[in-house]
Amino acid sequence: MTTQDSTCQIVVVGSINADLTVRVGRHPLPGETLLGTGGEVTAGGKGANQAVAAALQGASVALVGAVGNDPYAAPATEFLCSSGVEMSAVSTVKETTGLAVISVSEDGENSIVVVPGANATVDATAVAAHKKLIADADIVLLQGEIPADGFAQAVKLATGRVVVNLAPVIPVDRAALLHADPIMANEHEAGLILQQLGIMAASEDPQDLAQGLLDAGFRSVVLTLGGAGALVAQGTQLITIPTPKVSVVDTTGAGDAFAGAFVAELLSGTDKQGGANLVAAAQQAARVGAFAVTSRGAQVSYPGLHDQLPAID
Ligand code: RIB
Repeated sequence: MTTQDSTCQIVVVGSINADLTVRVGRHPLPGETLLGTGGEVTAGGKGANQAVAAALQGASVALVGAVGNDPYAAPATEFLCSSGVEMSAVSTVKETTGLAVISVSEDGENSIVVVPGANATVDATAVAAHKKLIADADIVLLQGEIPADGFAQAVKLATGRVVVNLAPVIPVDRAALLHADPIMANEHEAGLILQQLGIMAASEDPQDLAQGLLDAGFRSVVLTLGGAGALVAQGTQLITIPTPKVSVVDTTGAGDAFAGAFVAELLSGTDKQGGANLVAAAQQAARVGAFAVTSRGAQVSYPGLHDQLPAID
């Protein structure tokens, strides 16, 4: 059934999770039991995180996704609702709400296990039910926490720009993936995407990874490098984007904050040729991502338009 969706500039087709987070001095080794603290449940999921980050930067955003009819649905959707993300394309299904079990170590690094639950129902049929919403969007933003056929269907329906942050890296249709403009990935993900496309990068150096992705056929690439900033690659240009120096409390969802802020900024800026300004978008995204690592959690740590973003020295 096709639903009557309203038009939004950005449509995210992606996951919604409840994040169950514990804090540990260090991550456990296989077979080891450690004592930790915390245990709170907060809003997460890469799709929802990116939708919230973009909405908080002032974009009009809709999410296509699914939650269960269970107690995790409310905390998982709290920030989506409060940040004004259009939720008419979020279904309630019989599967349980997606759950992410996250441990965060003292240095702010996280490790995450995701149980997809309701996110596994965001397949080609579920996505096709929102054909008009997706086709009308200026930007469709995708990640790797929904089924591959849902991903491919979203690309097929998109008439605007497709931005892909394939996290985690799942096997997706090659032609669908190559629509990404840009493909956005961290170094580890970039290596896996190249592997999936059967391409060998010259080395694991970020510049070679970015060049490898361009050579694979992507029109543009944004490589996120954590505390080292990002790299924007397009045509013959490889541009380094510095990031503000901040004290890291929790990196959970920082990449999603970057992706959401990136697409929000992409809509507003143009370069001298009138094209979308990837560099300006990445600069703003780096500041939003840096803000997000300075406090705990994913969506709860994202800045709004009135927050003071850290400056790049
Ligand atoms: O990128 C961070 C997100 O990954 C968390 O919010 C968690 O839900 C997992 O999807």
